[in-house]
Parts: sequence; structure tokens; C-alpha cells
Amino acid sequence: MPAPVPIGIVTVSDRASQGVYADAGGPAIHAVLARILATPWRAAARLVPDEQPQIMSALTALADRERCPLIITTGGTGPAPRDVTPEATEAVCDRLLPGFGELMRAVSLRAVPTAILSRQAAGTRGRSLIVNLPGKPSAIAECLEAVFPAIPYCIDLIG
Ligand code: MTE
Repeated sequence: MPAPVPIGIVTVSDRASQGVYADAGGPAIHAVLARILATPWRAAARLVPDEQPQIMSALTALADRERCPLIITTGGTGPAPRDVTPEATEAVCDRLLPGFGELMRAVSLRAVPTAILSRQAAGTRGRSLIVNLPGKPSAIAECLEAVFPAIPYCIDLIG
């Protein structure tokens, strides 16, 4: 039996990380992955505030130390001053994959006009693919299901 593949799930939220409310984004990502992943996997979950250095260290630890082929973030992609997840993602990536954000925004725009406010990014760091999702749990399934068909092939290409 092969070891389960570690998948990084990073919730970026000031309030969830302070315990003001429960993290809903991480469990929502977990639920979608449990439904669509065919291979055995395990979650490597992190909950961090909207602080660029803390987001960057969660991403680099999951990529370099835990060797996650896929790292998914939720939250912090909007235009508010404390929304810095795309900046943190771009800072740790070797290469950006703008098609992910383009497709997720296009799909989301069919449901909500405010989808244009998400600056969600994606890119690769070594052998890890990092994908940003918006913070709303309802956006998570919509966005992740839209880009998922390209994910296994991308991981093959960078592996
Ligand atoms: N995408 C989908 N599919 N559904 C949504 O409800 N909300 C939008 C956008 N993308 C939304 C969405 C809104 S209102 C914002 S402000 C941005 O995502 C950024 O959200 P975030 O800062 O929580 O990442």
C-alpha cells in the first residue's frame, strides 16, 4: 500500500486563527478533495492570520519540508488591505500559472459578479503546485472543481 500523498490545506483568516469563529474553509476544501481524489491522501492543514510572512512560511514548509505536491489556500485574495495571500503565493513561487485564476474567476462570475474582486493566483514551487481559492466556503467547490482536471497533469509535469 503506497503512503498517502500529503496535501497542504492552508486557511488564511485573521478571525478564524484568533478563534473568533471556526475555520469553515479548510473543512470545505477537505470535503471536496475527499469527493474527487482517487489516490490515498492525507491533509497537512495550517490556519494562519492574514500576515504575509506567516502565509509564506506555511507555504514553504508544506512545499519543502512536507513535500506536498498540491497546496491549496483559502481566503485573503480580495482587495482589502489585509488580503495578502496572492502576494505571499507569488513571493514563494518559482513560476506563476495565471490560467488557474483566470478560469476560476470566469466560472465564479457566472454565479456572482463580485468574483472579479478575487486576485486568486497559482504557481509552482519546486515540485509543489500552489492554488489560491477565495475564502467563502461556497466558492471553494466551485473553483476547485473547475481547475481540478488540470491538477494531476500539472503535478506530473513538475514532478
Ligand atoms: N467566488 C465565488 N465563486 N463565490 C463567491 O462568493 N466571493 C468574491 C470573490 N470570489 C466569491 C468569489 C468576493 S465577495 C471577494 S471579496 C473575493 O472573492 C475575495 O475573497 P477572499 O478575500 O475571501 O479570498
